[in-house]
Amino acid sequence: MNDTTQRYNGIAIGFHWLIAFLIISMLATGNFMVSLEESDPMRFWLTQLHKSFGIVAMILIVCRSLWRLTHRPPGLPDHMKTWEVRAAGVSHALLYLLIILIPVSGWIMVSASPLDLPTVVFNAIQWPHFPPFDSMPNKADISSLFADIHKLAGWALIGLLFAHIGATLRHQFILRDDVAKRMSPRLPGGGWAAGVVPLTGVVVIVVAALIAFGYSGSGSAPLGAGESRVDFTFTLQNEETQGSFSESSVELLLDTNNPAGSSLNATVNTATVTTGTGQIDSTLLREDWFDVEAHPQASFTSREMTAAGENIYSVYGTLRIKGIAKDIEFPMELVSVENKRIATGSFAIDRLDFELGRDSQPEEDSLGYQVVVSFEFEVQSQLRDQ
Ligand code: HEM
Repeated sequence: MNDTTQRYNGIAIGFHWLIAFLIISMLATGNFMVSLEESDPMRFWLTQLHKSFGIVAMILIVCRSLWRLTHRPPGLPDHMKTWEVRAAGVSHALLYLLIILIPVSGWIMVSASPLDLPTVVFNAIQWPHFPPFDSMPNKADISSLFADIHKLAGWALIGLLFAHIGATLRHQFILRDDVAKRMSPRLPGGGWAAGVVPLTGVVVIVVAALIAFGYSGSGSAPLGAGESRVDFTFTLQNEETQGSFSESSVELLLDTNNPAGSSLNATVNTATVTTGTGQIDSTLLREDWFDVEAHPQASFTSREMTAAGENIYSVYGTLRIKGIAKDIEFPMELVSVENKRIATGSFAIDRLDFELGRDSQPEEDSLGYQVVVSFEFEVQSQLRDQ
């Protein structure tokens, strides 16, 4: 007969509760952060923390799985029916599958993201992108496929957790067979199971040390971006004409101590283009111009940032309009306006490089080739005011 009073090993218990705590917090904060507006700096900040804690959870899950493979768990009580034993086996296997799939899919999602944002664990350790997903030609599709997997697996895990907790409560309060107590970090006679305290202590100290190291030092905290605006100027019948995109969002990870580890990513919703003249605006939506149906967004993704003077950075990266990618470089300056830090910059493009008006305005007689794009956005400190 199996001894149901036999307990899990203290290390297995420590892993179980550390991972349970992290996963439940990640499920709650993950769903909360995606409910925020994409331009909300809080979403950016939470996503960076989510990725950091997600990496910690992934490392613990790998260690726990290795521990499980090398250590047999205590057997189930003899009074359990065959179907109950099978259901427990299947649900435990599914739990393992999901807790591995979720962080790995998150990692692949950010590695393949066209935004190419670095994952810097607690702003302290640069985590590599998952090869080869970071350099595949159809990165955007892969990223969105794994974002769907991450989301669906998250919901499946929530369902399975309810079943898991329900089964535990049934053992505890209906069957009263003490199966649940075998995973308790407290021993029946009092005190902590051997291994629980050192394991939890090491994990808490390492995470706290990384946070303290990563977010200390003036100017080393990453900066996020708040409200943004993107304007452009072009020459129409020899007159300088202004336009803008009323919806844009910017993600900025700026480490003023280490500009090379920084990134700037911006998107505009092309359907929100406006020049104040209805006729021009409706033309700009068409296939020969921004082709908004096929290309709802235009984007800029930085590849390199370098300091070019006090509060001036040289930004180099890829501009994508109508799916056409061109490398550009421009200066970005941080200025203070009414107690706010604002980033501004501008660059010029040739509209024909992006096939804007290629068929209807191939010459520059009435509409110039050069378009000057200027941007401005509020820079916000992520964890504290600097
Ligand atoms: C056990 C670990 C994890 C859990 C339980 C978890 C859970 C979640 C959940 C529930 C969401 C919301 C999904 C949605 O409704 O769209 C989410 C979003 C996200 N997760 Fe995770 N996650 C984990 C690990 C990771 C890791 C390791 C990374 C990357 C390194 C990551 C990156 C992301 C990102 C970038 C989003 C936001 C997607 C968006 O903005 O649309 N996650 N996560």
